[in-house]
Amino acid sequence: MNPLVVFYSRTGATKRVGETLAEMLDCDSEELLDTKKRSGPLGFLLAGKDATAKKLTKLTDIKRDPALYDLIILGTPIWAGTLSSATRTYIANNKSKFKRVAFFCTHGGGESQQLFAEMESLCERSPVSSFAIKGEEVKNGAHQDKLRQFADELQVQM
Ligand SMILES: Cc1cc2nc3c(=O)[nH]c(=O)nc-3n(C[C@H](O)[C@H](O)[C@H](O)COP(=O)(O)O)c2cc1C
Repeated sequence: MNPLVVFYSRTGATKRVGETLAEMLDCDSEELLDTKKRSGPLGFLLAGKDATAKKLTKLTDIKRDPALYDLIILGTPIWAGTLSSATRTYIANNKSKFKRVAFFCTHGGGESQQLFAEMESLCERSPVSSFAIKGEEVKNGAHQDKLRQFADELQVQM
């Protein structure tokens, strides 16, 4: 099994999870970069507005072809209860190339079930596994054990 970890991160938490997961699985990763400015207070407001409107964005060129991987592990921060615009755009542009999928998210304490249901519907595939963790836990380094468990669940599928 050849997995690819694909993630978007505005402030670093989802990136940390994505990079650690790729290390644990010893696999490739792809960070999604949004050409729209998302930093600062205005970026925050725009992010919330675009997420609520389920708007797509323009990503910089991706480096890895998802068609070459058996399992795409998609990570996003929760924005306004839903996907970040970059993750939504990546799915829209690439889902025809996905074989199997798994999901992860970081959040500020909100519910992840609805987000994962939406990702399942957008990908038109059920995830082999999914994982949610609070951004704060990631930033203080307390996520390692839970993430290891998710990596183990994925490895069973590989
Ligand atoms: C625009 C915006 C909306 C957010 N909405 C939610 C939300 O609905 N529920 C939640 O639990 N966290 C929400 N958050 C918090 C982020 O999901 C959380 O801080 C996450 O860990 C950030 O990941 P990142 O550091 O990879 O960008 C929101 C953050 C932003 C920027």
